[in-house]
Amino acid sequence: MTAPTPVVREHALGLAPQELPAYLYDLSALAAHAAAVRAALPPQVELYYAAKANPEPEILTALGPHVDGYEVSSGGELAHVAKAVTGRPLAFGGPGKTPDEITAALELGVERFHVESAYELGMLAALAARVVPHARVGVLLRFNLDLNAASLAGSSLAMGGRPTPFGIDPGEADSVVARFTDGSLPQLRLLGVHAHLASGLDAPRQLAVAESIVTWSQALARRHGIRLAEVNVGGGMSVDYARPGALFDWAAYGDGLAGLCAAHPELTLRIEPGRSLTAYCGWYATEVLDVKQSHGEEFAVVRGGTHHLRTPAAKGHDQPCTVLPTREPWPHPWPRSEALQDRVTFAGQLCTPKDVLSRQVPVAGLRAGDRVVFAMAGAYAWNISHHDFLMHPGPGFHFL
Ligand SMILES: Cc1ncc(COP(=O)(O)O)c(C=O)c1O
Repeated sequence: MTAPTPVVREHALGLAPQELPAYLYDLSALAAHAAAVRAALPPQVELYYAAKANPEPEILTALGPHVDGYEVSSGGELAHVAKAVTGRPLAFGGPGKTPDEITAALELGVERFHVESAYELGMLAALAARVVPHARVGVLLRFNLDLNAASLAGSSLAMGGRPTPFGIDPGEADSVVARFTDGSLPQLRLLGVHAHLASGLDAPRQLAVAESIVTWSQALARRHGIRLAEVNVGGGMSVDYARPGALFDWAAYGDGLAGLCAAHPELTLRIEPGRSLTAYCGWYATEVLDVKQSHGEEFAVVRGGTHHLRTPAAKGHDQPCTVLPTREPWPHPWPRSEALQDRVTFAGQLCTPKDVLSRQVPVAGLRAGDRVVFAMAGAYAWNISHHDFLMHPGPGFHFL
């Protein structure tokens, strides 16, 4: 999964140095991957894409035929996604929604609100009464479920199962649901439960989490004599940057979800992955500017850095990469710098030791001017980076 696809490889070698760095997205590879994910899931499971992973309009559009909708987590994402993929179902989640954001979502006719607190529920009800007085707005209550520690073990980012600002505490579940059954929220329709508890779980753990969420939701519904039509078990399917070939086991997860659907035929199950859909379709291509020794180790400084591709710094991993020796002869009158050792650490142009993309990469023979293509850069990459630090030029974007 780390070697660039042929179209990405050709493009990376064909760009002039001044056109680097550049994000290269293989949209055919993305569509094929999304189609395979969809095919692994039972029909009763809806697939939403968490736009926060990569909201580029071309990415949202390429995913269009393979997803049932999009999850957005801010007013900005809401406006952007509604414009990029007009008319597609949206679920509006995220903590700290403002009155202005909720009003905009109501005006846009957003199908589902993932409500994060009792306070937010009251705000949504009051705004709905004013903005869409004749509608009943669809609500999924997001809960921070108390799963046992083992089910979230191994996650790279836990958002639930412990104190966090996300979702409603399970201790408040009964009082919040009672507001729907005692007639005090006539503007809202309780569709179901939402729980995104962790990112980075493998298929068996994701399945165990999904089963727990469904069981808990059904018990909640029984206690209140109501039917919950939908359960959204979130995203967070694992993407392993240290083992790029170890893909999330969609077939096993799909089989497990099929069992869950069979046990609850009245339920629409929904998942909302981000990273596992788009991480593999993006590459950050750049060139080696200089190769140098430092205290016995060797560093290659590349054009760009973690202000464009913050993922390795944010997650503390080495970004998988491939070196493509340049086809061009060395164009300068000064001598070319080159690696003398077998292993080189790739660093960017920022004035901070944290600007490291990949450590101790075996790239004997690396030379200035060679291209380096960092893989798995299609999710939480450009859009989570601190672009303006040091005022270097921004990267190009190519959708292939
Ligand atoms: C509510 C919610 N849903 C879905 C996702 C997507 O998670 P991932 O990209 O790990 O699949 C996130 C990520 O933070 C999230 O907060």
